[in-house]
Amino acid sequence: VRNPLFLISSDLRAKAKWMYDDTSPRAIAKTLLTDGTFAMIIYRCMQASQQWSLAPLAMVFNKINGILGGCIIGRGASFEEGLVFIHSDGIVINGNVRGGSHVHLEHQVTIGAAERDQFPVLGNRIFVGAGAKIIGPVRIGSDVRIGANAVVIKDVPDGATAVGVPARNIERQRGEAV
Ligand SMILES: CC(C)(COP(=O)(O)OP(=O)(O)OC[C@H]1O[C@@H](n2cnc3c(N)ncnc32)[C@H](O)[C@@H]1OP(=O)(O)O)[C@@H](O)C(=O)NCCC(=O)NCCS
Repeated sequence: VRNPLFLISSDLRAKAKWMYDDTSPRAIAKTLLTDGTFAMIIYRCMQASQQWSLAPLAMVFNKINGILGGCIIGRGASFEEGLVFIHSDGIVINGNVRGGSHVHLEHQVTIGAAERDQFPVLGNRIFVGAGAKIIGPVRIGSDVRIGANAVVIKDVPDGATAVGVPARNIERQRGEAV
């Protein structure tokens, strides 16, 4: 079980880096006030409660995020450090989803099951654009970007950028960062 304070601090640093390209205390303080950060912190509280078998508390955090954070994240959804919600409104994530580190989500992103027990697994360093949907038993590799409004229903390999409905992979310029 990862220490939730470590995870929250890593999330805040990742978001400060994304937003201000700066992880100084001042940038972290500004990050605390940005849209989406509240939901990121409540998610980590829910994740810790779930891992410590405090299911009723996890349910309370789940509801708080639904009402105040504008996002529905299943209690069992697990992400490693560096999770960033650039905005949290409209984010819906299935409780079985597994994500690696440094997953960055824009608003209105859905990561969900196609059928029961068929849910996505995400790698590390992933950016998901606004309104994108990742549906079903797909594997998203590492260093991946998913375009705004894409509907991803097939695996996305490491280093790829996927756009469109249904999503297709496009070439990335050599040396370009995620
Ligand atoms: C996917 C994304 C990261 C790719 O950026 P990029 O590497 O600069 O890609 P380009 O703009 O060079 O586009 C490459 C091709 O993909 C297409 N494309 C890019 N984004 C697309 C999208 N979201 N949906 C459909 N097609 C898209 C372009 O039309 C272009 O197609 P072409 O080669 O046939 O002309 C970016 O377009 C994107 O969608 N970012 C999401 C940003 C976001 O959600 N912002 C919310 C802020 S509140």
